[in-house]
Amino acid sequence: MIGKKLPFVTFRTRVRDESVGGPNPYRWQDMTTDDYFQGKRVVLFSLPGAFTPTCSTYQLPDFEKLFGEFQAEGIDEIYCISVNDAFVMNAWGKSQHLVNVKLIPDGSGEFTRKMGMLVAKDNLGFGMRSWRYAAIINDGAVEQWFEEEGYSDNCDSDPYGVSSPQNILEKLKAKVAA
Ligand code: BEZ
Repeated sequence: MIGKKLPFVTFRTRVRDESVGGPNPYRWQDMTTDDYFQGKRVVLFSLPGAFTPTCSTYQLPDFEKLFGEFQAEGIDEIYCISVNDAFVMNAWGKSQHLVNVKLIPDGSGEFTRKMGMLVAKDNLGFGMRSWRYAAIINDGAVEQWFEEEGYSDNCDSDPYGVSSPQNILEKLKAKVAA
């Protein structure tokens, strides 16, 4: 995976725009992988679903809190991606009071599929979702890769540790390649 160029994908985001007027002033804004990743060194982490317990209680808030430490290690942005649409991702971001971490809605699963990380989670009634992984992406290419063990469809466990912010930060501080 190291050195892999990210697939070119267009994400359908929803952004607030007061000029739209009315009680729900949001419009569609297409964002491409280039818009998010070109010319930046970022952390990308991917998880099985917005609002799920481990992601909402530990992973996302911990990345949010540790953003300054990641910046000190030369990280420009932290992106969280999930196979959820823009409405769900926006609602999750609002509920988490995010300031630092940016959410990317991969509603169709196209990015996750092209990364080879799409798995069935029908056993949970979820359909196709992302296996847990994180990566350091440097100018659109994978510099370091952090994938949870046991990639599989309908996995009856949900390993979480390798892709935690604490583990990634430790590796960045030690200048250890994953
Ligand atoms: C969790 O983050 O705890 C979780 C993720 C997927 C399914 C169930 C729980």
